[in-house]
Amino acid sequence: MVDEDRRKFLGVCLGGVAAAAAVAVSYPVYNYLAPLQQAKTAGKVVIPEQEVPVGGAKFFEYAGSTAVLVRRQSGDLVALSAVCTHLGCIVQWEKEKQDFLCPCHAGHYSHEGAVLSGPPPKPLAKLPFVVANGVITVG
Ligand code: FES
Repeated sequence: MVDEDRRKFLGVCLGGVAAAAAVAVSYPVYNYLAPLQQAKTAGKVVIPEQEVPVGGAKFFEYAGSTAVLVRRQSGDLVALSAVCTHLGCIVQWEKEKQDFLCPCHAGHYSHEGAVLSGPPPKPLAKLPFVVANGVITVG
């Protein structure tokens, strides 16, 4: 009787382990095969307006690359590619200076993406966006 109970208990334990292993294997496969969430909005990225503070920047993924939204002190918004036009590093927002610095070769861009100094040959690419009902839609 004790052996039978032990077998049942071991069976339940092995079943639980098998179920956990099945989930552990299938979840990454599902994540890999499932379409990206951004694809649901046809390449557009939706960001709540409150996530871009005055004088601040919000970086996000857009069309397989990094982009950034900047809210100027005046409240105006700018959407830019965050990919440096020199050799493709991701620029960083310098809140104190209200400009962008490329950490790779010290390229400087204005808050609107214009080249201020350094090796970048072109401004940061501007991205289209609209603001409606407290939501910024880029793309
Ligand atoms: S990659 Fe940005 S300055 Fe060189």
